[in-house]
Amino acid sequence: MLQMLNAFLTVQALHVTAALGIADQLTAGPRNIDDLASTTRARPSSLYRLLRMLAGAGVLREEADGRFALTPLGATLRTDAPDSVRDWALFVGAPEMWQVWGGLRASVLTGQSAFQRVHSAPMWEYIAGHADLGTAFNRWMTRQSNQHNSALVASYDFSPFRLVADIGGGQGSTLAAILQANPSLRGILLDLAQVVADPAPLMQAGVINRCEVLGGDMLEAVPAGADAYIIKRVLMDWDDEHAATILRNCAAVMPEAGKALVVEMLMGSANDPSPSKPFDILMLLNQPGGRIRTEVEFRALFTAAGLRLTRVIPTASPNSILEGVRA
Ligand SMILES: C[S@@+](CC[C@H](N)C(=O)[O-])C[C@H]1O[C@@H](n2cnc3c(N)ncnc32)[C@H](O)[C@@H]1O
Repeated sequence: MLQMLNAFLTVQALHVTAALGIADQLTAGPRNIDDLASTTRARPSSLYRLLRMLAGAGVLREEADGRFALTPLGATLRTDAPDSVRDWALFVGAPEMWQVWGGLRASVLTGQSAFQRVHSAPMWEYIAGHADLGTAFNRWMTRQSNQHNSALVASYDFSPFRLVADIGGGQGSTLAAILQANPSLRGILLDLAQVVADPAPLMQAGVINRCEVLGGDMLEAVPAGADAYIIKRVLMDWDDEHAATILRNCAAVMPEAGKALVVEMLMGSANDPSPSKPFDILMLLNQPGGRIRTEVEFRALFTAAGLRLTRVIPTASPNSILEGVRA
């Protein structure tokens, strides 16, 4: 229990280490504290205490000569590691987010989003105006997507489709993976204008020439005519009314045989230590009405949007694919 209660220290220590770029500094090999302190402009004795704590946690290793080295765990804080979590460390420990985490008590008592209460704006609006936080969040979305995409592509056959639309698709990493695996497929990416301004994953994957990139509001309308509408880790941000609106907007423009493909975590069963449960609290804190749903709740949401849930396909990532057709 004490370890759980003291977890705040670990999160802040990892955040500061990520913000100072310590893991990047150690990529080429171990370095001593004076050297690290001078490149990061930190006070050597305080930086030493921070790194000593993280060496105790297995993130770094303190060598016999006093130099610090990265462990495989610590290497995930490098900017360019394939399994990098640096952007999440930057976001989750940022002072603006720390204020939000401190609002859990009020969220539990009132059911309201702590983010909205603390920052007087919805998260999407706030991060659009705060470049550092917005960049860390959007880059983390892309990273996390990359880490889940191969599981998605391996679990669903996209080859019968000609055109897929990714609704709330971020910077396009999911769409990039699907188009790369299906060379004759074309795609549409829809997200907020400021997010799709940088569709780097589509360019890096060399699929941008098969894509239409649209800035817009999925609560208003989504582009017509795709054979499949992917809605990945989007509905979790919204209450049932808004989530049904997003699904209904897709259903309204889908061809007769079109598919809605909701890709989300499903809520685990009682007492199951599933990551869906802390993630659900993240939604309670950050997004008004946001939640992780059970399969039964999704079935009801599909029905409310004029869709019928046809299949639930687990993947080798925390996400499942919920396939829907017109009711
Ligand atoms: C949790 S992220 C998921 C991103 C992506 N689908 C993925 O799996 O990585 C939710 C996305 O919804 C987008 N979004 C929020 N409000 C939106 C709106 N009204 N219209 C379009 N996109 C929106 C956000 O910008 C963000 O990229």
